[in-house]
Amino acid sequence: MSTTRGLEGIVATTSSVSSIIESVLTYQGYDIDDLADNASFEEVIYLLWNGRLPKEDELSQFTQELANHAEIPKEIIDQMKAYPIGKVHPMAALRTAISSLALFDEQADVMEEDANRLKALKIQAQIPTIVTAFSRIREGQEPVAPRTDLGFAANFLYMLTGNEPDEIAVNALDKALVLHADHELNASTFTARVCVATLSDVYSGITAAIGALKGPLHGGANEAVMKMLTEIGDVNNVEPYIRKALDNKEKIMGFGHRVYKDGDPRAKHLREMSKRLTEITGETKWYEMSIKIDEMVTGEKGLLPNVDFYSASVYHSLGINHDLFTPIFAVSRTSGWLAHILEQYDNNRLIRPRAEYVGPDKRSYIPIEQR
Ligand code: ACO
Repeated sequence: MSTTRGLEGIVATTSSVSSIIESVLTYQGYDIDDLADNASFEEVIYLLWNGRLPKEDELSQFTQELANHAEIPKEIIDQMKAYPIGKVHPMAALRTAISSLALFDEQADVMEEDANRLKALKIQAQIPTIVTAFSRIREGQEPVAPRTDLGFAANFLYMLTGNEPDEIAVNALDKALVLHADHELNASTFTARVCVATLSDVYSGITAAIGALKGPLHGGANEAVMKMLTEIGDVNNVEPYIRKALDNKEKIMGFGHRVYKDGDPRAKHLREMSKRLTEITGETKWYEMSIKIDEMVTGEKGLLPNVDFYSASVYHSLGINHDLFTPIFAVSRTSGWLAHILEQYDNNRLIRPRAEYVGPDKRSYIPIEQR
């Protein structure tokens, strides 16, 4: 048996949800650049789950269904109020709350396709409500109920602040959600597929995926990027900060990728958004620092920014708390996880690879008094 560390380059499944071929990312055959410029997040969810873009009436019906299912059980809100506020990262709260949602869904373990698709709709609709409710609860505020007359991105920002968001913020968030929706067999998606391939339920698959996304080598990197930008503080401090980090062989968050070696196609969209939004807020230093870091890391290490790098200054410019960056990633990627979960159920086989044994040779048990 031979091993490949981190399963690099291993093709573990077939999938028609998304592809990365020669550094081009597509969702169901549509180039991410095309979708980022033209599609709404609701359209993308529909595409990922149905394999085609919706017609006008299908999209308005689907958007309405998402909005109609956005309320979460009161018990989930009560539970979140009992979390140890101040000590809980919103990703941990989200992981727990999504798992709890299953307890209030009588269909949680029903494995028929219709039941699974309804669960997908409910989870996608309710995940923004959970993230925003927890954000408000920990700030001593009451959660804001979702509105049925707002689109997905607008509802998220509305539930977060209690105020109807402006068009610029809604469009920026919507585009960020489109860009993060799916990404072939990334770590969290693989986790979701492994979980449900045991014929475990949809909620378990999403809970497992959230756990995998949380780590700083995956979705947690966007928050870590903002931490770095905050520590640097000023464009003049970039050079010594990054020099020291590179000399110490530290990882620069938001750079590098297992699959893209010629650059992440999503990063350019987020870089443009970062430029525009920081100009609007007047806090251009976040963009300027990011550009300088990008030049240094790319120039010296040949490592290119990934999706997490410029999304940090984008979300910051939208006034979003830094520890909500990864939960927002989860809100978007849930659409991809659910598409993969439905695809896995559709043609399931248990995922059970092997390990090459490198432990001690065969030994005999020694009674405790003789050790
Ligand atoms: N900063 C500095 N050096 C890096 C970075 C980085 N961000 N990324 C990779 N390297 C270096 C490694 O130190 C290693 O060098 P070495 O060969 O001298 O030891 C080499 O490049 C290969 O790196 P690996 O970690 O083996 O690459 P891998 O494919 O396993 O990891 C990963 C990819 C996890 C994304 C990595 O580039 C990284 O840790 N980046 C920072 C975290 C990050 O931004 N994660 C988000 C990824 S995108 C996403 O999940 C949404």
